[in-house]
Amino acid sequence: MEIITRADAESVGAYAASIIADVVTRADGRATLGLATGSSPLPTYAALAALVRAGDLDLARCQAFALDEYVGLPAGHPQSYREVIRRTVVEPLGMDPDLVHVPDGAAANPAAAAAAYDRTIAEAGGIDVQILGIGSNGHIAFNEPTSSMTSRTRVKTLTARTRRDNARYFDSPDDVPVHCITQGLGTIGESRRALLVATGANKATAVAAMIEGPLSAMCPASVLQLHPHATVVIDDEAAGQLAGIEHYRDIQLRRPEWQPR
Ligand code: PGA
Repeated sequence: MEIITRADAESVGAYAASIIADVVTRADGRATLGLATGSSPLPTYAALAALVRAGDLDLARCQAFALDEYVGLPAGHPQSYREVIRRTVVEPLGMDPDLVHVPDGAAANPAAAAAAYDRTIAEAGGIDVQILGIGSNGHIAFNEPTSSMTSRTRVKTLTARTRRDNARYFDSPDDVPVHCITQGLGTIGESRRALLVATGANKATAVAAMIEGPLSAMCPASVLQLHPHATVVIDDEAAGQLAGIEHYRDIQLRRPEWQPR
């Protein structure tokens, strides 16, 4: 796992965006991106949008797959991840909506929709770079604690803590859906590169468990310890509980070739 620390959320986003831009450029503009929702990747998307606006990056031919979606929200609900991805990623980054996939949370059979989504990712050739946030309980996508490390895209039940964390987006906490479709930890583990961004002190415990804790289903993000190319970009607050922080900083300083363009 590469650990990159930056002073604040904006610098985290700029660094993460430079990694994504590098992957897209190397793929001649045809990379497949894995998209996360939530507040953590917003500075990354903002930095990518600035590169697109400046003419330094073109994402129009990139394919993309969202990590997850609520089950049961009506089509077009502003908090459905399909809508969130449209507003925060597809439009500002100039992506082709036909190439951007989100699990079908309104399907009559969500379990079948989840399995079909997993197959579609594989048929598209897999994910080149998977953007991830981390929940305060250590989840990635909606893989809550106790999720199987080899799980595939499936229907999951959200924990009370996750529903509380996400209540800020809804009129009432009771409006937060109870179920979701989420890519599995096994699905995420197949991405060719994993890029997790985390900022703020409320992520420090989960970040420390992910990086330094044991591989454990109680911290689903710890599965990234098994990933062949995982990069974690965090701000100083999110790094606040890492016992080995000086060691990671030392490595950063001594390995300038790790810096993307
Ligand atoms: P956040 O959510 O980026 O809004 O903090 C992350 C997550 O729950 O995975």
